[in-house]
Amino acid sequence: MADRSGLAVILAAGEGTRMRSSLPKVLHPVGGLALVGHVIKATLAAGISRRVVVAGHGAEAVSAAVRTLDDKAAIAIQTERLGTAHAVLAARSALEEGADDIVVLFGDGPLITAETIAAARAKLAEGAAVVVVGFHTDAPTGYGRLLMQGDALLAIREEKDASTEERKVTFCNSGIMALSGSEALALLDAVGNANAKGEYYLTDCVEIARARGLVVTAIEADAEEVAGVNNRLELAVMETAFQKRAREAALMAGVTLQVPDTVIFSHDTVLESDVVVEPYVVFAEGVKVAAGARIRAFSHLEEADVGPGAEIGPYARLRPGSEIGEGGKVGNFVEMKKAVLGPGAKVNHLTYIGDAEIGAKANIGAGTITCNYDGVNKHKTVIGEGAFIGSNSSLVAPVTIGTGGYVGSGSVITKDVPDGALAIARGRQVTFPGKAPKPRPKTKG
Ligand code: UD1
Ligand code: MG
Repeated sequence: MADRSGLAVILAAGEGTRMRSSLPKVLHPVGGLALVGHVIKATLAAGISRRVVVAGHGAEAVSAAVRTLDDKAAIAIQTERLGTAHAVLAARSALEEGADDIVVLFGDGPLITAETIAAARAKLAEGAAVVVVGFHTDAPTGYGRLLMQGDALLAIREEKDASTEERKVTFCNSGIMALSGSEALALLDAVGNANAKGEYYLTDCVEIARARGLVVTAIEADAEEVAGVNNRLELAVMETAFQKRAREAALMAGVTLQVPDTVIFSHDTVLESDVVVEPYVVFAEGVKVAAGARIRAFSHLEEADVGPGAEIGPYARLRPGSEIGEGGKVGNFVEMKKAVLGPGAKVNHLTYIGDAEIGAKANIGAGTITCNYDGVNKHKTVIGEGAFIGSNSSLVAPVTIGTGGYVGSGSVITKDVPDGALAIARGRQVTFPGKAPKPRPKTKG
């Protein structure tokens, strides 16, 4: 498809009243990414060079979200909701600029794949003027029916305009349509609104194109792939489908998921081969895990980079900006934020490491806290290579522990510790032989 230019028109004007939300429907997330974001990603993966998103309800928020994925995307506004053809025509100026292939998609259908978009474009390349993406369902009520004659698509009949016979057809319109760039505007401009809903139907392009002697056909996609979201129940179903797809892709790419159904992925999770994921792990956005690392049970990772062979958890929390070096270990009840752990370094128990840099092979004892916040600003803790921080120490930032430095347990470190130095900062112990109280105080009852 590299030789053909493409323009995607993504319809996202719907209010989505059944979501019962102040957020525009297409901005509700699946796998941590807005519904319309998934559609944009699919069009990018299908090699479509330009995008225009038709917004209405919540246009400003929709536009901002769209631009984070494609900063050149155009936003067209449909002020009145007069039908799907009318919505596409809101993008008239982009359509006038032209492209070989125009692909119309709905912004609330996040599971559409690049392969299906490419298959529709391939039919255009073979000479079709209109290609509709259809799907089979046992419950066709509400969908436009595809009236086929062999490979030719004769018409799409909307539910309200269909005869009893036509309503029995189970091959339905997903709403995704590819149109030849040289015909698209003329076809859309010819659409009228003399139908049961009084709307300008995009689907009328089919009969108009046929009347002009153009080739019109349909391809089939999986019903799940082209499903849209109208309420929170459907959003939850979509999330489940997305997670299933993400788990299967990870497994097929050489990742072990011990109990796949308990692992939650984001749209951008990257797990290399031979990563092992134990049960109940959440990958929030922006996580990359290198080959051979192990993510142990009940861990939560977000915007984190885990190096090869590292071990995280069980019960670890990696917050944004966590970078774990090769073979590093982050154990139970450890929280890290904006912190780099050098290769082979260990933070094994009950610790908070924030705004810190920890050198290779350093050992951070149980209960260590980097005191990074003075109530106004955040400060950095630097721990050198091979340093040892004794258990239950507080490192009051900004502070540096030098290479090979050693901090005695229970210290509150407020001054830098030079390379190779031992620092102890705690109350001295006083011992009185034979002075233990006798008899020992008893608890009541
Ligand atoms: C549409 C199709 C139908 C198909 C079904 C799949 C038409 C005429 N019918 O029907 O064949 O089976 O989708 O779900 O195209 N939209 C706008 N502006 C408008 C009207 C719609 O942006 O003026 C957007 C909606 O927000 C929605 C999409 O277009 O995302 C489809 O509109 P909707 O009213 O849901 O159409 P359906 O009746 O479901
Ligand atoms: Mg609909």
